[in-house]
Amino acid sequence: MVISIANQKGGVGKTTTAINLSAALTKEHKRVLLVDMDPQANSTLTFTDHKSIDYSVYELLTEPSLDHRLIIKTTPLPNLDILPSKISLAKLDSKLLGEFDAPYRLKDRMDTIKSDYDFVLIDTPPTLGLITVNALVASDYLIIPIQSSYFALEGTDDLLDTVEKVNARPNPDLKVLGVVITLHDKRTTLSRDIYEQIKQVFGDKVFSTVISRSIRLEESPAYKETIFTFAPQSSGASEYLNLCKEVISRV
Ligand SMILES: Nc1ncnc2c1ncn2[C@@H]1O[C@H](COP(=O)(O)OP(=O)(O)O)[C@@H](O)[C@H]1O
Ligand SMILES: [Mg+2]
Repeated sequence: MVISIANQKGGVGKTTTAINLSAALTKEHKRVLLVDMDPQANSTLTFTDHKSIDYSVYELLTEPSLDHRLIIKTTPLPNLDILPSKISLAKLDSKLLGEFDAPYRLKDRMDTIKSDYDFVLIDTPPTLGLITVNALVASDYLIIPIQSSYFALEGTDDLLDTVEKVNARPNPDLKVLGVVITLHDKRTTLSRDIYEQIKQVFGDKVFSTVISRSIRLEESPAYKETIFTFAPQSSGASEYLNLCKEVISRV
C-alpha cells in the first residue's frame, strides 16, 4: 500500500512525519519503503549520507530501464529501505516536459516495487507540481499534515482541488486517509481554537493523535536519528507510535 504525505506548505511536518511514521511502522513489524520525493532530501539525509548515494528517485523516474535495486538503499533500521532523493530531482519538470506519461512515471515503477513492502511512504516537496502529482498518482492514500497555526487551513483548498483532479482521471482510487495536526501547543487557547477549526473542515478525517511541538522532534534529524532512538521516552515518540496505530487501523 502506498501513502503520500503531502501539503504544499513548507514547514508543516511532512518530513518529520514521513521519517517517524516509517520508523514506527517498522516497530510494528511492517516492511517499509520511504520514498523521498523532495529535492531538499531531508528524509534521505536522516537515514543515509550523501556520499553513499549514486542513483536517486530522479534516475528512477527518468531512466525506466535502470534496475530499481540499484537505487533503493537499506537503512540502519531493520525493515526500512529508502529510495533516496538528490537535488537533481528539481530538474524533473523540465526533463519530462512533453512526455505524455510524465505524471505516471512513479506509479509505473511502484507497480513492480510495492509488493516487496507492507507500506510505501512518500515524502513530497512543498509544491503541487509534477513531483507531487507523480506521488498522488502512485498512491492509495494521502496523509495531510497541518500545522497548528493561525493560517493552518490556508492552501488546503488547492491541495484538495489537486486530489480531485487526480481522482477524476489518473487515479480514481486515491483517498484521503487522514489529517494530522502537527506542531501543536496544547497550552494556548489559540491552539484549541485552531484544532476546532480543522475539525470543522475535516471532521472524522482528523486523526485523534495530535503531534505536539517538541524540542526533541526538532533536534532528532540533526543527529540523523528518528525520535524512537533519539528520545524514546518523549511525547513525540509516543505520539508518532499512536499515529502509526491509527494509520494501520484505517488502511
Ligand atoms: N512536532 C514538532 N515539534 C518541533 N519541531 C518540529 C515538529 N515537527 C517538525 N518540526 C521542525 O519544523 C521544521 C519543519 O518540519 P518538516 O518536517 O521539515 O516540515 P516539511 O517537510 O513540511 O517542510 C523542521 O525544522 C522540523 O525539525
Ligand atoms: Mg520536507
